[in-house]
Amino acid sequence: MTQTTCIICYNKLNYITIRSDYCRFDRDLRWRTGVQLFPVVCESSNNFKVTKEALEEAYSKAQESNIKVKGLLINNPSNPLGTILDKETLKDILRFINDKNIHLVCDEIYAATAFSQPSFISISEVKSEVVGCNDDLVHIVYSLSKDLGFPGFRVGIIYSYNDAVVNIARKMSSFGLVSTQTQRLIASMLLDTIFVEDFIAKSSMRLLQRYGLFTKGLGQVGITTLKSNAGLFIWMDLRRFLENSTFDDELKLWHIIIDKVKLNVSPGCSFHCSEPGWFRVCFANMDDATMKIALRRIRHFVYLQPNKGVEVATKKQYCRTRSKLEISLSFRRLDDFMNSPHSPMSSPMVQRSIMDMSTISLST
Ligand SMILES: Cc1ncc(COP(=O)(O)O)c(C=O)c1O
Repeated sequence: MTQTTCIICYNKLNYITIRSDYCRFDRDLRWRTGVQLFPVVCESSNNFKVTKEALEEAYSKAQESNIKVKGLLINNPSNPLGTILDKETLKDILRFINDKNIHLVCDEIYAATAFSQPSFISISEVKSEVVGCNDDLVHIVYSLSKDLGFPGFRVGIIYSYNDAVVNIARKMSSFGLVSTQTQRLIASMLLDTIFVEDFIAKSSMRLLQRYGLFTKGLGQVGITTLKSNAGLFIWMDLRRFLENSTFDDELKLWHIIIDKVKLNVSPGCSFHCSEPGWFRVCFANMDDATMKIALRRIRHFVYLQPNKGVEVATKKQYCRTRSKLEISLSFRRLDDFMNSPHSPMSSPMVQRSIMDMSTISLST
């Protein structure tokens, strides 16, 4: 996917990208190619929607800074938001790039992860509905990493309407060829359409279930999330836990979540979010038991926060239940325990307590 996206972006072009966007666009695009990414600022007040005004503003700001914009990069469905761009927004985006005569790169890597309505619409389905749309400006990038859970296979796809881009991509692909063994495996899998359809249907059903459980669990302690219906992420609002609404405080909170709560989530600033206090949680990369532990840790963290809107009675009740249910080991003692040659590591009780202590990754 990185290779795929780079091919389109060589020659030090400048791209504007949607904020909050996939954090590794910085690494994947900027570091390697020298393109500059200029953010389109989206805000929580309208659920981080991409508006015409935000696009125009980003474009004008780039021009004021003497940045010549060559393209717009979007990620639909969105990582980290988990939201899908609706048809009208996609049309606005197409009109915008045609009006400015700049390229549009659509990263549709989460296309088949939509788990409830509205369903995903590809830019390719909308293109023909925009009068005068120049097809040469539209490029889609995709990979099997997310929809089919094949990140290690490094299979990426460029779907471009521009012959020059396709020709260059063909030549450049010799630097990142997919091995014949992988090609054979992927081909036989993709040819089995019944398997693929079944896999995607089961995957979205499981994502829907997990999304429901996770957001419900967060909701029980008053943590709200951006309403979403695709991707592997929840965009969690922890703004009320910041002392001050600053990115320094966001990072402080992130360190507490990593070091004390023992959950690895991603802070909004790593996605260029313009408002401090948002965190991305990957809800799809763990089993049910681990998810329950992760939720319990978040809830426990919330109950320990002073004056954050959690009823004292509920708090006491929670702490009582917790002490009955859990074995308590200090981290120091846990280390001694694990390093001991006589450690009864195989005991289910011990394994359970270790699960309770080690960091759970809710990131990718
Ligand atoms: C939006 C987006 N684009 C691209 C990628 C990179 O995918 P790949 O593993 O195929 O390189 C990711 C991976 O997290 C992603 O979230």
